[in-house]
Amino acid sequence: MLPALDTLMLVFSPEGEKTLHVPARALFLGAVPHPALREWPDITGWQPNKALADAWERGGFVRIGDLGDQRWPVVLVLPGKSREETLAWFAMARDHLAPGGTVVVAMPNTAGARRFEKLLAEAAGEVVSLQKHKCRAFHATESDDFKPSVFDAWRAGLLPQDISETSFVAQAGTFSANRIDPGSAFLAEHLPRTLQGTVADLGAGWGYLSDAILRRCPKVESLDLFEADARAMTCARANLSAHDRPIRYHWHDVTTGLPEKYDTIVMNPPFHTGQVTDVDLGFRFLQVAMASLGRDGELFFVANRQLPYEGVLETSGLEWRITAEDKTYKLLFVKQH
Ligand SMILES: C[S@@+](CC[C@H](N)C(=O)[O-])C[C@H]1O[C@@H](n2cnc3c(N)ncnc32)[C@H](O)[C@@H]1O
Repeated sequence: MLPALDTLMLVFSPEGEKTLHVPARALFLGAVPHPALREWPDITGWQPNKALADAWERGGFVRIGDLGDQRWPVVLVLPGKSREETLAWFAMARDHLAPGGTVVVAMPNTAGARRFEKLLAEAAGEVVSLQKHKCRAFHATESDDFKPSVFDAWRAGLLPQDISETSFVAQAGTFSANRIDPGSAFLAEHLPRTLQGTVADLGAGWGYLSDAILRRCPKVESLDLFEADARAMTCARANLSAHDRPIRYHWHDVTTGLPEKYDTIVMNPPFHTGQVTDVDLGFRFLQVAMASLGRDGELFFVANRQLPYEGVLETSGLEWRITAEDKTYKLLFVKQH
Protein backbone atom coordinates (compact mmCIF):
# COMPACT_ATOMS: atom_id res chain seq x y z
CA MET A 1 0.00 0.00 0.00
CA LEU A 2 1.25 3.52 -0.69
CA PRO A 3 1.96 5.49 2.52
CA ALA A 4 0.61 8.67 0.88
CA LEU A 5 -2.67 6.90 0.12
CA ASP A 6 -2.94 5.64 3.72
CA THR A 7 -2.38 9.22 4.88
CA LEU A 8 -5.01 10.48 2.45
CA MET A 9 -7.54 8.02 3.84
CA LEU A 10 -6.91 9.37 7.38
CA VAL A 11 -8.57 12.61 6.28
CA PHE A 12 -11.83 10.62 6.18
CA SER A 13 -11.27 8.65 9.38
CA PRO A 14 -14.22 9.07 11.80
CA GLU A 15 -11.87 9.49 14.83
CA GLY A 16 -9.61 12.36 13.71
CA GLU A 17 -9.91 16.07 14.56
CA LYS A 18 -9.13 17.48 11.13
CA THR A 19 -11.29 15.02 9.25
CA LEU A 20 -14.02 15.20 6.61
CA HIS A 21 -17.14 13.08 6.11
CA VAL A 22 -17.05 10.45 3.38
CA PRO A 23 -18.70 12.27 0.46
CA ALA A 24 -21.71 11.06 -1.52
CA ARG A 25 -19.67 11.40 -4.73
CA ALA A 26 -15.94 11.81 -5.29
CA LEU A 27 -13.36 11.93 -8.09
CA PHE A 28 -9.87 10.48 -7.52
CA LEU A 29 -7.06 11.90 -9.71
CA GLY A 30 -4.17 9.43 -9.90
CA ALA A 31 -6.51 6.73 -8.60
CA VAL A 32 -5.02 3.77 -6.72
CA PRO A 33 -7.25 1.24 -4.92
CA HIS A 34 -7.49 1.25 -1.12
CA PRO A 35 -9.68 -1.08 0.99
CA ALA A 36 -11.34 1.88 2.78
CA LEU A 37 -12.56 3.24 -0.57
CA ARG A 38 -14.79 0.16 -1.00
CA GLU A 39 -17.08 1.66 1.66
CA TRP A 40 -17.49 4.88 -0.32
CA PRO A 41 -20.88 5.17 -2.04
CA ASP A 42 -19.67 6.61 -5.36
CA ILE A 43 -16.01 7.10 -6.30
CA THR A 44 -14.71 7.53 -9.85
CA GLY A 45 -11.01 7.19 -10.66
CA TRP A 46 -8.91 8.93 -13.32
CA GLN A 47 -5.55 7.29 -13.94
CA PRO A 48 -3.32 7.87 -17.01
CA ASN A 49 -1.03 4.90 -16.21
CA LYS A 50 -2.38 1.70 -17.79
CA ALA A 51 -1.02 -0.70 -15.15
CA LEU A 52 -2.52 1.40 -12.35
CA ALA A 53 -5.76 1.95 -14.30
CA ASP A 54 -6.08 -1.84 -14.66
CA ALA A 55 -5.41 -2.32 -10.93
CA TRP A 56 -8.13 0.24 -10.14
CA GLU A 57 -10.65 -1.57 -12.34
CA ARG A 58 -9.62 -4.99 -11.01
CA GLY A 59 -10.40 -3.57 -7.55
CA GLY A 60 -14.00 -3.16 -8.76
CA PHE A 61 -13.86 0.64 -9.05
CA VAL A 62 -15.30 2.86 -11.80
CA ARG A 63 -12.73 4.54 -14.07
CA ILE A 64 -13.17 7.59 -16.28
CA GLY A 65 -10.89 8.55 -19.20
CA ASP A 66 -12.38 11.90 -20.22
CA LEU A 67 -13.55 14.08 -17.33
CA GLY A 68 -15.49 16.36 -19.69
CA ASP A 69 -17.12 19.17 -17.72
CA GLN A 70 -18.26 16.97 -14.83
CA ARG A 71 -17.83 18.21 -11.26
CA TRP A 72 -17.65 16.43 -7.92
CA PRO A 73 -18.09 17.67 -4.32
CA VAL A 74 -14.74 16.08 -3.35
CA VAL A 75 -11.67 15.59 -5.56
CA LEU A 76 -8.83 13.44 -4.19
CA VAL A 77 -5.37 13.97 -5.68
CA LEU A 78 -2.42 11.58 -5.47
CA PRO A 79 0.12 13.42 -7.62
CA GLY A 80 3.05 12.01 -9.59
CA LYS A 81 6.60 13.22 -9.19
CA SER A 82 7.01 16.26 -11.43
CA ARG A 83 6.37 19.76 -10.06
CA GLU A 84 4.63 20.99 -13.18
CA GLU A 85 2.45 17.88 -13.29
CA THR A 86 1.50 18.22 -9.62
CA LEU A 87 0.45 21.85 -10.05
CA ALA A 88 -1.45 20.93 -13.23
CA TRP A 89 -3.32 18.26 -11.25
CA PHE A 90 -4.23 20.89 -8.63
CA ALA A 91 -5.72 22.96 -11.49
CA MET A 92 -7.52 19.88 -12.86
CA ALA A 93 -8.94 19.17 -9.39
CA ARG A 94 -10.15 22.76 -9.16
CA ASP A 95 -11.75 22.55 -12.62
CA HIS A 96 -13.79 19.50 -11.61
CA LEU A 97 -14.79 20.71 -8.17
CA ALA A 98 -18.46 21.49 -7.51
CA PRO A 99 -19.13 24.89 -5.88
CA GLY A 100 -18.10 24.74 -2.22
CA GLY A 101 -16.35 21.39 -2.82
CA THR A 102 -13.07 20.20 -1.29
CA VAL A 103 -9.75 19.22 -2.88
CA VAL A 104 -7.78 16.67 -0.82
CA VAL A 105 -4.13 16.02 -1.69
CA ALA A 106 -1.64 13.55 -0.22
CA MET A 107 2.08 13.32 -0.94
CA PRO A 108 5.25 11.87 0.61
CA ASN A 109 7.43 14.39 2.46
CA THR A 110 10.30 13.43 0.16
CA ALA A 111 8.22 14.57 -2.84
CA GLY A 112 8.07 18.10 -1.38
CA ALA A 113 4.67 17.77 0.35
CA ARG A 114 5.21 20.83 2.57
CA ARG A 115 6.18 22.98 -0.41
CA PHE A 116 3.15 21.86 -2.43
CA GLU A 117 0.88 22.47 0.57
CA LYS A 118 2.15 26.07 0.64
CA LEU A 119 1.59 26.43 -3.09
CA LEU A 120 -1.98 25.15 -2.78
CA ALA A 121 -2.53 27.63 0.06
CA GLU A 122 -1.36 30.45 -2.25
CA ALA A 123 -4.07 29.48 -4.73
CA ALA A 124 -6.82 28.36 -2.37
CA GLY A 125 -6.45 30.33 0.88
CA GLU A 126 -6.87 28.23 4.01
CA VAL A 127 -5.46 24.70 3.85
CA VAL A 128 -5.97 22.08 6.59
CA SER A 129 -3.13 19.60 6.97
CA LEU A 130 -2.25 16.38 8.78
CA GLN A 131 1.00 14.40 8.83
CA LYS A 132 1.51 10.67 9.17
CA HIS A 133 3.58 7.86 7.59
CA LYS A 134 6.23 10.46 6.49
CA CYS A 135 3.53 12.00 4.27
CA ARG A 136 1.20 14.99 4.39
CA ALA A 137 -2.46 15.14 3.48
CA PHE A 138 -3.90 18.62 3.01
CA HIS A 139 -7.26 19.92 1.90
CA ALA A 140 -8.85 23.18 0.82
CA THR A 141 -12.53 24.00 0.39
CA GLU A 142 -13.64 26.18 -2.50
CA SER A 143 -14.45 29.75 -1.43
CA ASP A 144 -14.05 33.35 -2.62
CA ASP A 145 -10.40 33.04 -1.55
CA PHE A 146 -9.67 30.74 -4.51
CA LYS A 147 -7.46 32.67 -6.96
CA PRO A 148 -8.36 31.78 -10.57
CA SER A 149 -5.19 33.42 -11.95
CA VAL A 150 -2.93 31.01 -9.99
CA PHE A 151 -4.87 27.95 -11.12
CA ASP A 152 -4.87 29.33 -14.69
CA ALA A 153 -1.06 29.47 -14.70
CA TRP A 154 -0.84 25.86 -13.44
CA ARG A 155 -3.34 24.57 -16.02
CA ALA A 156 -0.77 24.91 -18.84
CA GLY A 157 0.81 21.68 -17.60
CA LEU A 158 -2.27 19.76 -18.72
CA LEU A 159 -1.45 20.33 -22.38
CA PRO A 160 1.42 19.10 -24.58
CA GLN A 161 4.19 21.73 -24.65
CA ASP A 162 7.04 22.34 -27.09
CA ILE A 163 10.36 20.74 -26.17
CA SER A 164 12.87 23.50 -26.82
CA GLU A 165 15.14 23.18 -29.85
CA THR A 166 13.08 20.28 -31.25
CA SER A 167 9.87 19.93 -33.23
CA PHE A 168 8.41 17.62 -30.55
CA VAL A 169 5.80 18.18 -27.86
CA ALA A 170 5.49 16.46 -24.48
CA GLN A 171 3.23 16.84 -21.47
CA ALA A 172 4.36 17.46 -17.88
CA GLY A 173 4.75 14.21 -15.98
CA THR A 174 5.55 12.06 -19.03
CA PHE A 175 8.99 10.50 -19.30
CA SER A 176 11.70 13.05 -20.22
CA ALA A 177 9.10 15.75 -20.88
CA ASN A 178 11.62 18.59 -21.24
CA ARG A 179 14.31 17.03 -23.41
CA ILE A 180 15.25 14.11 -25.60
CA ASP A 181 16.40 11.27 -23.35
CA PRO A 182 20.17 10.72 -23.91
CA GLY A 183 19.71 6.91 -23.81
CA SER A 184 17.08 7.08 -26.55
CA ALA A 185 19.31 9.48 -28.53
CA PHE A 186 22.19 6.97 -28.25
CA LEU A 187 19.94 4.18 -29.53
CA ALA A 188 18.59 6.31 -32.40
CA GLU A 189 22.10 7.28 -33.46
CA HIS A 190 23.23 3.63 -33.66
CA LEU A 191 20.06 2.16 -35.13
CA PRO A 192 20.83 0.24 -38.35
CA ARG A 193 19.14 1.81 -41.39
CA THR A 194 18.30 -1.71 -42.53
CA LEU A 195 15.54 -2.31 -39.92
CA GLN A 196 12.59 -3.79 -41.73
CA GLY A 197 9.12 -5.28 -41.67
CA THR A 198 6.68 -4.93 -38.81
CA VAL A 199 8.25 -3.01 -35.95
CA ALA A 200 7.24 -2.39 -32.32
CA ASP A 201 8.56 0.30 -29.95
CA LEU A 202 8.04 -0.83 -26.33
CA GLY A 203 7.67 1.95 -23.77
CA ALA A 204 7.41 4.40 -26.65
CA GLY A 205 6.89 7.51 -24.49
CA TRP A 206 6.08 10.62 -26.50
CA GLY A 207 7.52 9.01 -29.61
CA TYR A 208 11.13 10.16 -29.99
CA LEU A 209 12.48 6.68 -30.87
CA SER A 210 9.52 5.90 -33.08
CA ASP A 211 10.16 9.07 -35.04
CA ALA A 212 13.84 8.11 -35.39
CA ILE A 213 12.86 4.62 -36.65
CA LEU A 214 10.55 6.04 -39.30
CA ARG A 215 13.06 8.69 -40.39
CA ARG A 216 16.08 6.41 -40.58
CA CYS A 217 14.64 3.11 -41.77
CA PRO A 218 12.82 3.14 -45.13
CA LYS A 219 12.19 -0.63 -45.06
CA VAL A 220 10.00 -0.41 -41.97
CA GLU A 221 6.49 -1.33 -43.14
CA SER A 222 4.48 -0.52 -40.04
CA LEU A 223 5.10 0.65 -36.50
CA ASP A 224 3.24 -0.25 -33.29
CA LEU A 225 3.83 1.92 -30.23
CA PHE A 226 3.19 0.37 -26.80
CA GLU A 227 3.12 2.79 -23.87
CA ALA A 228 1.52 2.78 -20.40
CA ASP A 229 1.16 6.56 -20.05
CA ALA A 230 -1.95 7.74 -21.91
CA ARG A 231 -0.70 11.34 -21.97
CA ALA A 232 2.57 10.29 -23.63
CA MET A 233 0.55 8.40 -26.26
CA THR A 234 -1.43 11.54 -27.04
CA CYS A 235 1.83 13.44 -27.51
CA ALA A 236 3.24 10.62 -29.68
CA ARG A 237 0.24 10.91 -32.02
CA ALA A 238 1.04 14.61 -32.48
CA ASN A 239 4.79 13.99 -32.83
CA LEU A 240 4.37 11.31 -35.50
CA SER A 241 1.50 12.90 -37.42
CA ALA A 242 3.71 13.80 -40.40
CA HIS A 243 4.68 10.17 -41.12
CA ASP A 244 2.61 8.33 -43.69
CA ARG A 245 3.42 4.68 -42.90
CA PRO A 246 0.85 2.68 -40.87
CA ILE A 247 1.20 3.45 -37.15
CA ARG A 248 -0.84 1.95 -34.31
CA TYR A 249 -0.94 3.34 -30.79
CA HIS A 250 -1.50 0.90 -27.92
CA TRP A 251 -2.23 2.18 -24.42
CA HIS A 252 -0.79 -0.98 -22.95
CA ASP A 253 1.06 -2.45 -19.95
CA VAL A 254 3.99 -4.20 -21.67
CA THR A 255 4.61 -6.45 -18.65
CA THR A 256 1.38 -8.31 -19.54
CA GLY A 257 2.84 -9.39 -22.93
CA LEU A 258 2.11 -8.25 -26.49
CA PRO A 259 -0.85 -9.30 -28.64
CA GLU A 260 1.27 -10.27 -31.68
CA LYS A 261 4.80 -10.97 -32.93
CA TYR A 262 7.11 -8.57 -34.80
CA ASP A 263 10.01 -8.67 -37.27
CA THR A 264 11.83 -6.01 -35.26
CA ILE A 265 11.48 -4.64 -31.73
CA VAL A 266 13.21 -1.49 -30.52
CA MET A 267 13.11 -0.21 -26.96
CA ASN A 268 14.61 1.93 -24.26
CA PRO A 269 13.08 -0.05 -21.38
CA PRO A 270 12.04 1.67 -18.13
CA PHE A 271 13.88 0.80 -14.95
CA HIS A 272 11.91 2.93 -12.49
CA THR A 273 8.49 2.45 -10.92
CA GLY A 274 7.52 5.87 -9.59
CA GLN A 275 10.65 7.18 -7.89
CA VAL A 276 12.06 3.73 -7.11
CA THR A 277 14.67 1.91 -9.22
CA ASP A 278 13.05 -1.30 -10.47
CA VAL A 279 15.47 -3.32 -12.59
CA ASP A 280 12.93 -6.17 -12.67
CA LEU A 281 10.65 -3.97 -14.79
CA GLY A 282 13.40 -3.71 -17.42
CA PHE A 283 14.02 -7.49 -17.21
CA ARG A 284 10.29 -8.09 -17.75
CA PHE A 285 10.35 -5.80 -20.82
CA LEU A 286 13.26 -7.84 -22.16
CA GLN A 287 11.44 -11.15 -21.59
CA VAL A 288 8.30 -9.84 -23.28
CA ALA A 289 10.32 -8.44 -26.20
CA MET A 290 12.18 -11.73 -26.75
CA ALA A 291 8.89 -13.69 -26.59
CA SER A 292 7.35 -11.33 -29.16
CA LEU A 293 9.96 -11.70 -31.90
CA GLY A 294 8.81 -13.59 -34.96
CA ARG A 295 11.06 -16.04 -36.82
CA ASP A 296 14.45 -14.35 -37.48
CA GLY A 297 13.14 -11.39 -35.53
CA GLU A 298 15.61 -8.83 -34.18
CA LEU A 299 15.60 -6.79 -30.99
CA PHE A 300 17.62 -3.63 -30.41
CA PHE A 301 17.62 -2.02 -26.99
CA VAL A 302 19.61 0.51 -25.04
CA ALA A 303 20.53 0.28 -21.37
CA ASN A 304 22.70 2.03 -18.85
CA ARG A 305 25.99 0.16 -18.80
CA GLN A 306 25.62 -0.93 -15.17
CA LEU A 307 22.25 -2.65 -15.71
CA PRO A 308 22.86 -6.43 -15.82
CA TYR A 309 20.72 -7.48 -18.79
CA GLU A 310 23.45 -9.88 -19.90
CA GLY A 311 22.37 -12.42 -17.26
CA VAL A 312 18.85 -12.61 -18.72
CA LEU A 313 20.24 -12.83 -22.25
CA GLU A 314 22.68 -15.62 -21.33
CA THR A 315 19.84 -17.82 -20.08
CA SER A 316 17.57 -17.01 -23.07
CA GLY A 317 19.36 -19.31 -25.52
CA LEU A 318 19.17 -16.55 -28.16
CA GLU A 319 22.05 -15.07 -30.11
CA TRP A 320 23.00 -11.68 -28.67
CA ARG A 321 25.80 -9.13 -28.58
CA ILE A 322 26.63 -5.55 -27.64
CA THR A 323 26.83 -3.55 -30.87
CA ALA A 324 27.76 -0.11 -29.50
CA GLU A 325 28.72 1.43 -26.20
CA ASP A 326 30.01 4.64 -24.69
CA LYS A 327 30.83 5.56 -21.10
CA THR A 328 27.14 5.60 -20.08
CA TYR A 329 25.13 3.37 -22.43
CA LYS A 330 25.28 0.08 -24.26
CA LEU A 331 23.22 -1.00 -27.27
CA LEU A 332 22.22 -4.66 -27.18
CA PHE A 333 21.16 -6.75 -30.16
CA VAL A 334 19.24 -10.03 -29.85
CA LYS A 335 18.25 -12.37 -32.69
CA GLN A 336 15.50 -15.00 -32.75
CA HIS A 337 15.92 -18.10 -34.91
C1 LIG B 1 13.07 4.96 -20.69
S1 LIG B 1 11.48 5.51 -21.25
C2 LIG B 1 11.66 5.47 -23.03
C3 LIG B 1 10.80 6.50 -23.71
C4 LIG B 1 10.88 6.59 -25.22
N1 LIG B 1 11.04 5.34 -25.88
C5 LIG B 1 11.85 7.59 -25.79
O1 LIG B 1 11.86 7.65 -27.00
O2 LIG B 1 12.57 8.31 -25.10
C6 LIG B 1 10.45 4.15 -20.87
C7 LIG B 1 8.97 4.34 -21.15
O3 LIG B 1 8.28 3.14 -20.73
C8 LIG B 1 7.01 3.52 -20.21
N2 LIG B 1 6.55 2.44 -19.32
C9 LIG B 1 6.86 2.21 -18.02
N3 LIG B 1 6.26 1.09 -17.59
C10 LIG B 1 5.55 0.60 -18.63
C11 LIG B 1 4.73 -0.53 -18.81
N4 LIG B 1 4.52 -1.39 -17.81
N5 LIG B 1 4.16 -0.74 -20.02
C12 LIG B 1 4.37 0.15 -21.03
N6 LIG B 1 5.13 1.24 -20.92
C13 LIG B 1 5.73 1.47 -19.74
C14 LIG B 1 7.27 4.84 -19.50
O4 LIG B 1 6.07 5.58 -19.36
C15 LIG B 1 8.29 5.51 -20.45
O5 LIG B 1 7.64 6.29 -21.41
